Amino acid sequence: MSDSKTESRELIFSILKYNPRDFDSKPGFVEYKLMETAGMTLFIALNQIRSTLDADLSFDFVCRAGICGSCGMIINGKPLLACRTLTSSYPDGKIQIMPMPAFELIKDLSVNTGKWMNDMSKRVESWIHSNEEKDIRTIEERVDPDQADKTFELDRCIECGLCITSCSTALMRHDFVGAAGLNRVARFHADPHDTRTDEDYYELVGDDDGIFGCMSLMACEDNCPKHLPLQEKISYLRRKLVSVK
Ligand code: SF4
Ligand code: F3S
Ligand code: FES
Repeated sequence: MSDSKTESRELIFSILKYNPRDFDSKPGFVEYKLMETAGMTLFIALNQIRSTLDADLSFDFVCRAGICGSCGMIINGKPLLACRTLTSSYPDGKIQIMPMPAFELIKDLSVNTGKWMNDMSKRVESWIHSNEEKDIRTIEERVDPDQADKTFELDRCIECGLCITSCSTALMRHDFVGAAGLNRVARFHADPHDTRTDEDYYELVGDDDGIFGCMSLMACEDNCPKHLPLQEKISYLRRKLVSVK
């Protein structure tokens, strides 16, 4: 789409507003009209709506660059990072935005992914477990670069929650650790500093709220903005843990 065409277009936003802490608030879509500008992202559009049309509209952004994971939303039915989504992706100019289900609603488009991720981190014991006595004066053992890459690759998760909100299992089962949780387990499983065995991981996630709850629906990987190999890692973990007696 050319810049001149982009600049002349009117966008119609339909945004779900609701404040669960206000007794008088009722969930409902509110329409806003805005002129599109070149290179406009949903981040820019929502900020313009808030500054010119509705100061009460709530949504979250921090980095505006697809790094912090704060701006996950359901945009025309698809879970996306709003700061990485261009308004020009919507040829008819109609954009509906809803908050991500599966997370506690704070207000309008703002949801509490932080609480979910914190609970998940505790649930999967997201820290290095080691049998060795640590002496901080000793230099850490060197890790093979290929091995380190495997760990760092999975550390690229930005905790945006798109894999959780797009997974029907996670929507139905609130205790399911989801792809983000299983990715975290795979990250520690790959880390040579962590001495947990497959038996230990089985104790942790060898149930229907963990690895055996995943029904291979694949929406997690399809929607992950960091393109993490979630399917491959979930299948690998399942194969490992299914063989634990
Ligand atoms: Fe987001 Fe991907 Fe991490 Fe899920 S695995 S929280 S979709 S970055
Ligand atoms: Fe859900 Fe992904 Fe499994 S969408 S069911 S976690 S493959
Ligand atoms: Fe940080 Fe979108 S604002 S990922």
